[in-house]
Amino acid sequence: MRVLIVGNGGREHALAWKLLQSPQMQQVVCVPGNGGTANLDRCSNLPLSIDDFEGIARFALVNNIALIIVGPEVPLAMGITDYLKQHHLTVFGPTRDGAQIESSKSWAKDLMREAGIPTAQATVFTNAEAAQSYVRSQDLPIVIKADGLAAGKGVTVATSLDQATAAIAACFEGQFGSAGQRVVVEEYLTGQEVSILAVTDGLTIRPLLPAQDHKRIGDGDTGENTGGMGAYAPAPIVTPALMSRIQTEILEPAIATLRDRHIDYRGVLYAGLMITSQGDPKVIEFNCRFGDPETQAILPLLETPIEKLLLACAQGQLEQFPAIVWKPGASACVVMAAEGYPGAYKKGLEIMGVEQAESNGATVFHAGTQRKQNTILTDGGRVLGVTALGEDFGQAIDRAYAAVQCIQFDGMYYRRDIGDRVRPIRSSQN
Ligand SMILES: Nc1ncnc2c1ncn2[C@@H]1O[C@H](COP(=O)(O)OP(=O)(O)O)[C@@H](O)[C@H]1O
Ligand SMILES: [Mg+2]
Repeated sequence: MRVLIVGNGGREHALAWKLLQSPQMQQVVCVPGNGGTANLDRCSNLPLSIDDFEGIARFALVNNIALIIVGPEVPLAMGITDYLKQHHLTVFGPTRDGAQIESSKSWAKDLMREAGIPTAQATVFTNAEAAQSYVRSQDLPIVIKADGLAAGKGVTVATSLDQATAAIAACFEGQFGSAGQRVVVEEYLTGQEVSILAVTDGLTIRPLLPAQDHKRIGDGDTGENTGGMGAYAPAPIVTPALMSRIQTEILEPAIATLRDRHIDYRGVLYAGLMITSQGDPKVIEFNCRFGDPETQAILPLLETPIEKLLLACAQGQLEQFPAIVWKPGASACVVMAAEGYPGAYKKGLEIMGVEQAESNGATVFHAGTQRKQNTILTDGGRVLGVTALGEDFGQAIDRAYAAVQCIQFDGMYYRRDIGDRVRPIRSSQN
């Protein structure tokens, strides 16, 4: 079997690595891939742009690709799945209409309202004046969101009226292009955030292990928001009872309502949740793809052959598929970033010590790297996701940090507190 993965981040490296654990996997091709996927046995990088749908389709048809997995949200929102399906290719990832669940926050809110899914109360605005006068009448903090895709920079949790006003102005003045011409203003929720990545064939939906990530750049959840500085799974806050509520109150109604809208959604439905102090799950947002870095923490625990699971989703056969099997224990992923991230950072710095880190029992997923001859160079803000398993969180986290100590590049930065919240808790699976 041959599989093609679209994307070049840590999530895509983790997917390729997992696929290649199956003996029947002949070849994995990553478009365009990174320094990590370039180094995997039976894996190759294809230097096409992720929006070159025609080039991807042609390669897949000529090379007998059985399954295409789309990593990032941007090509999904642009309709890559629609294009590839027109060419009779098998794709894991929703069509353009399904991807709206991530690419338009107001569209997602409307779907949640229709489905009766618990979420923050929200109002949508298409002009600045109305939004400004509305926030003046509301309590603080208040949350201001650009409607469209903004690479993780479109949301402001405003603790002052000035901040809220500035965030609304930034949206309507075009800071996020067309993504900010519609603005969602919503109620501030408190509690713990968790990520539920679920796989679906549009009829049946099944959650993967719950995960938690660390979005802020600094220890103790301080400083700017990032794409994610580390993650762990399975998040103990999601008890089996809570997971079953998430299934019936959130995941199943979402899929049923997508179906009511004639959307055949096959891929990942990722629910970003707030677990309130009362223990109730509320949706912060939906994403239409695997989360990064959560995927890097979740996949090493997966026992079920991933290509079979994703193929069952793409082919509409998830209901008959056996229950997903997980390894016991816990997983932790520590992201190593470039100096300056999430602001400006340098690229092209040599990375040393990855082999030593891996011989210490960790798996080093590459996020922003590039292979040049026999060296690995930094090529992004988040550079590596150093991941380890353990019998419990303490062991997994200690192993991940021990591996981090082996790695060296100029200006490297990582948080020192990944998983501190769960370190004392034994994995619920043990
Ligand atoms: N209603 C809310 N209440 C409290 N925090 C929120 C709320 N909405 C978003 N946030 C915070 O902002 C972050 C980003 O918001 P999100 O809707 O996930 O947008 P995106 O991931 O597209 O940037 C969330 O992870 C959460 O920390
Ligand atoms: Mg988010």
